[in-house]
Amino acid sequence: MTLRHFLRDDDLSPAEQAAVLDRALALKAEPFSDRRLEGPRTVSILFDKPTLRTQVSFVGAVSGLGGFPMVVDGRLAGVGVRESVADVARILGPQSAAVVWRTFAQSDLAEMAAYAGVPVVNALTDDFHPCQVLADLLTLREALGDLPGRTLAYVGDGANNMAHSYLLGGVTAGLHVRIGTPASHPPAADVVERARELAATTGGSVHVTDDPVEAVTGADAVATDTWVSMGQEAQADDRKGEGSPFTTYAVDDALMAHAAAGAVFLHCLPAYRGYEVSAEVIDGPRSVVWQEAENRLHAQKALLSWLVEQAGASA
Ligand code: NVA
Repeated sequence: MTLRHFLRDDDLSPAEQAAVLDRALALKAEPFSDRRLEGPRTVSILFDKPTLRTQVSFVGAVSGLGGFPMVVDGRLAGVGVRESVADVARILGPQSAAVVWRTFAQSDLAEMAAYAGVPVVNALTDDFHPCQVLADLLTLREALGDLPGRTLAYVGDGANNMAHSYLLGGVTAGLHVRIGTPASHPPAADVVERARELAATTGGSVHVTDDPVEAVTGADAVATDTWVSMGQEAQADDRKGEGSPFTTYAVDDALMAHAAAGAVFLHCLPAYRGYEVSAEVIDGPRSVVWQEAENRLHAQKALLSWLVEQAGASA
């Protein structure tokens, strides 16, 4: 068996994703019932971009599994700068049960996976944020029950990591995924194509539109994300200021009124009230964002447990 990684959402098959979510629900109910990292075994957790939820939840997940979370400031370590990604991978791998990395280029993460010799987990890249979508799916299971056939609408920057992960992770779960985004910011064509291919096997579907109302109409869940992702700070004025292409994609009560009765609101956070979401929505009764943030812990714990278990079986 080959070593398994979680570099993008479609690294888990539909059955594997469902199994990880089942494990997450079980671990949420019995937090210390899985001691797979007992020893403690180290999990190396590297950050090249800012973090709050991801650091707290991965440290909690590794500790909860009986392991030791070794947090490394990637900028201090100079991953890919002071030494190559491959050399860093060959240092971390033999001393870690898994490597978790938040960085910029997806190709660097793939290089880490090629050389580490242990499971590598994407803690956000420019292209994908698959751990967040696992947590979102867990939250939707809790809020809505079974996922297949449900509709998730993501409105905002369709070209960013969250849009891509909702496409791949959402259809893997059998969701109908709608992306409402300006024509100037479409999701990557290869991601849309892959999502359509997957959807054909799960009963899900993909719909990309520049009409936010069309995206949201009848949806069971509405999600958005910042208009200025990490690494895009220099474009902040164009993305948030006057003339922003995203202004009409803000999620407010008027837009939420088009969603299904009982629809929930998701946001990976950090949120910018008055830009991509209004305070009335994110702080209102349909918002499940705090539950969603906590679910990072349970989802990642289940993912790490599953990946380390698979690695043991493949050794
Ligand atoms: N798209 C955002 C997600 C933050 C969790 C970013 O990359 O900054």
